[in-house]
Amino acid sequence: MKQEVILCQNLTKELSEVLKNSSHDRVFILTDTHTHELCLPQLETIPEIQKAIHIIIEAEDVHKTIETLAFVWQALSTQGATRHSLLLNLGGGMVTDLGGFAAATFKRGIDYINIPTTLLAMVDAAVGGKTGINFNGLKNEVGAFAPALSVWLETEFLRTLDHTNFFSGYAEMLKHGLISNTEHWAELLRFNTESIDYAALKTLVGTSVQVKERIVEEDPKEHGIRKALNLGHTIGHAFESLALAENRPVLHGYAVAWGIVCELYLSHIKVGFPKDKMRQTIQFIKENYGVFTIDCKKYEQLYELMLHDKKNCAQTINFTLLKDIGEICIDQTADKETIFEVLDFYRECMGC
Ligand code: GLY
Repeated sequence: MKQEVILCQNLTKELSEVLKNSSHDRVFILTDTHTHELCLPQLETIPEIQKAIHIIIEAEDVHKTIETLAFVWQALSTQGATRHSLLLNLGGGMVTDLGGFAAATFKRGIDYINIPTTLLAMVDAAVGGKTGINFNGLKNEVGAFAPALSVWLETEFLRTLDHTNFFSGYAEMLKHGLISNTEHWAELLRFNTESIDYAALKTLVGTSVQVKERIVEEDPKEHGIRKALNLGHTIGHAFESLALAENRPVLHGYAVAWGIVCELYLSHIKVGFPKDKMRQTIQFIKENYGVFTIDCKKYEQLYELMLHDKKNCAQTINFTLLKDIGEICIDQTADKETIFEVLDFYRECMGC
């Protein structure tokens, strides 16, 4: 089923039209404590939102748990949700992932709409039908592929996004640039991130999300080309997990950006990704993301974390690499020695 992604001109007006004509018997709206306070007021002129039943959960990834999920099921169940009800998820990736999974499982599945409020959720998490929760200490360990009825992108929400959350989302956009075409990649590197032109950002978000949509449409369940979206994530996830284990957590997109540094170098040595484009991308990442420091004593631990990533089977580590921008090589592997060489390169070029 193709998921409709709408780049809104005016969310309130357009969503109001759709809800007015919808045949759902009840509308539920899921927010976290932040989006309830900061984003929901912008939708409150919509009559169907005024009548909607509110479900409010705690913000942040630490609450993407079975307990929060049960709380949402409970709220749906006790407040009369039926198989013909609609759940609106208003928030970042935590709300859209957990809300999507609640909708996918409640009464074996009810309709849901995502209204992402962060850049990361707009270009990645809320689009493409991956839903889920963290479980047993592992991120997104339990979930389902369950596309939203539609995803509404209102970039006006981004005006209040803080610097680090902006760059966290921008890393996934850089990834979309690298896996699509040189023109899109170059405009992302040129974009003035110090003084954001929100109209230009909206156009970039539209282009970025189309890259993901095209790939997901071709391979919704990640049997093949959807693995392109994992560029930067094999080593990025290991950085993210190490950071968490060492009590110095980093935002997902930052870990992905540092993962991209490593995986472009791996692309260069294994499949010939051009050095100049690798250098330009790394320069942008160094300037905007700083560095996650590691020393060589961490290599074994990072390697173990890569082996245990759910994308891998048995003793091989799976990478998505690039021959050039837009020239994707999925299902690539690298041995331990090569991965350690990549980590040496990362430390040298990032200066740690
Ligand atoms: N975030 C990668 C994917 O949706 O496949």
